[in-house]
Amino acid sequence: MTFSNARESIKSAARRLGLYEPLRKGKDRIFRTLRDSPPIIRWGLKRLLSFPKSDIERLSREFDQERLWERIMSRVAETARRDPGFHPSTSSPFNLRTLYVLCRILRPAWVVETGVASGASSWVLLTALSKNGKGGLRSIDLPPSQWEPAKSAYKEIDPVSLPAHRKPGWLVPEPLRGRWQLILGDAKAELPRLLEGLGRIELFYHDAEHTREAMLREFRAAWAHLASGGALTSDDVGWNTAFDEFCAEVLPKEAGRWFSFGLVLKP
Ligand SMILES: C[S@@+](CC[C@H](N)C(=O)[O-])C[C@H]1O[C@@H](n2cnc3c(N)ncnc32)[C@H](O)[C@@H]1O
Repeated sequence: MTFSNARESIKSAARRLGLYEPLRKGKDRIFRTLRDSPPIIRWGLKRLLSFPKSDIERLSREFDQERLWERIMSRVAETARRDPGFHPSTSSPFNLRTLYVLCRILRPAWVVETGVASGASSWVLLTALSKNGKGGLRSIDLPPSQWEPAKSAYKEIDPVSLPAHRKPGWLVPEPLRGRWQLILGDAKAELPRLLEGLGRIELFYHDAEHTREAMLREFRAAWAHLASGGALTSDDVGWNTAFDEFCAEVLPKEAGRWFSFGLVLKP
């Protein structure tokens, strides 16, 4: 019996005994508690980013001073209390802090992200651009309500919703919106068009459809437009083999992952 056969047999036995869901939820809770604990976040940031430690520490302190994570969480929690149908799905505190630090260090002219939902990552990236005093963010999001019926199985695995009567990116504060354009549509069609128009970008964040095909497609498209020294980042790199396949394909000088976050720097 192979390892994966043994794993499947254990899973189906657990399902029969009604233990699968409680065990899965427990494992997920442990994963999140570890991933989101401040000492582990600080450690991961220094392990993942190869920039001078003093810059990473200074910019990470700046992220704390902006109280970005606390402000995002308090608005999300307050809205979820009033709207029980809202299933918030924001990037993790590690992802958001890392995106902030990267955006401050790279001082990009253009940042592109796929997957906005309520807009936590957009808020963080726009704050970093505003601190830089330069650069723009272009985001692509296909609102959950517009997913094709063909994607209903995927929706089960990655349930995301917006609060009632809210548009994607509703979290983003008004004063930050001057540097932002939000494109509503499927990244499959919109991303190549957007990249063609921008020409060159310095930072890319994938947080949309986490299927192998969609992730590989987005990574390849963004890489072709990424400037030398630019960063390609992604959430949920553990969901499938796309990130590892992509790294093997482009053989970057620097690539790494921390929990669900992946980073590749273009030589
Ligand atoms: C996990 S949420 C994004 C969270 C966001 N980055 C944050 O930090 O708050 C994923 C979003 O991607 C959108 N999405 C899924 N498939 C997409 C596609 N093919 N093209 C564009 N957006 C997509 C979903 O509707 C959802 O709004």
